[in-house]
Amino acid sequence: AAAEKGGFDSFMDKEIHDQPHAVADTLLGRTDAAGRLVLDDLRIDESVLRAVNKIIVVACGTAAYSGHVAKYAIEHWCRIPVEVELAHEFRYRDPIVDERTLVVAVTQSGETMDTLMAVRHAREQGAKVVSIVNTHGSTIPRESDAVLYTHAGPEIAVASTKAFLAQITAAYLLGLYLAQLRGNKFPDEIAALLDDLRDMPRKIQTVIERGEYVRATARSMSSSDKVLFLGRHVGFPVALEGALKLKELAYIHAEGFAAGELKHGPIALIDEGQPVFVVVPSPRGRDSLHSKVVSNIQEIRARGARTLVIAEDGDDEVRDYADEVFWIPKAPTLLQPLLAVVPLQIFAMALATAKGLDVDQPRNLAKSVTVE
Ligand code: G6P
Repeated sequence: AAAEKGGFDSFMDKEIHDQPHAVADTLLGRTDAAGRLVLDDLRIDESVLRAVNKIIVVACGTAAYSGHVAKYAIEHWCRIPVEVELAHEFRYRDPIVDERTLVVAVTQSGETMDTLMAVRHAREQGAKVVSIVNTHGSTIPRESDAVLYTHAGPEIAVASTKAFLAQITAAYLLGLYLAQLRGNKFPDEIAALLDDLRDMPRKIQTVIERGEYVRATARSMSSSDKVLFLGRHVGFPVALEGALKLKELAYIHAEGFAAGELKHGPIALIDEGQPVFVVVPSPRGRDSLHSKVVSNIQEIRARGARTLVIAEDGDDEVRDYADEVFWIPKAPTLLQPLLAVVPLQIFAMALATAKGLDVDQPRNLAKSVTVE
């Protein structure tokens, strides 16, 4: 087993370190000689894909959060409404689905029963299903109209890390493919976005190399009993995933909130010393989201929170209000989740390790849940 872990203490640690490759491999071979996106394993008639008027992403757990990230990108690029729903909720609420609905099922294992049932239901209603799957030969791709494989390699640790980054990457590819097909974007715009994506593995590697500071912080926080996570826009699903990782690995009560929601409730939770992670949007992004989130940091700090901030290199404004800053390289706003989630994964793993827990096999969880 030591050899399989490639010299790392755990599969989780190895898989976190695998992430630059997981993203790079998922991007590999997706363009033709002319630089146009080709998704070989996407076998749905182009005319059907052009007519799609709604996308519903169905998934569970971490995979569902990749869908939340994808929603921001696909709606922005393709101008198609995207809903994201937990597969088990979708299946049993009589969802509105028809021939013009594209259902995107996201799953690492390809075997999650809740997701499979959602896929079957969607197809019975006439929808086309594209699955984004990591495991070749699994059930969900067999039962889908098309599959877009992530190439993260086998993921052994129960809590998902590299599959998540690969899922986001694959969902971006799907979004760009649809934008290309439907003429929402010029070829050079798509090429530029693909270049940005191809630049991400290097930046992810940088975040991993900065991991020791995150680990040290986590070790100093091993007695925390409640941790909050705030994010806005694509940082919101990152906050949800950061909280999930901490629950799964360290058995700590953790909640992710949309930063804009703070004043509508969660701020009541803040008291002296309360640790709060905040994912800060790029200062170069539009709509002044950056300054709104910086104000949130000031608000919670004024109420005693210990602020653990994930911010872009060079974002000097956050420094004054942060107890700790975990710096990530600059990236286009929509791609930031591929970087911002990494310190949160490392934090959860290191804190769990400091508590003496088995990070690869958390209690009560299964890698793949094959019952409803
Ligand atoms: C289980 C795992 C999670 C995973 C979820 C969905 O609950 O413990 O890590 O995110 O299933 O799994 P899937 O294979 O469908 O991505």
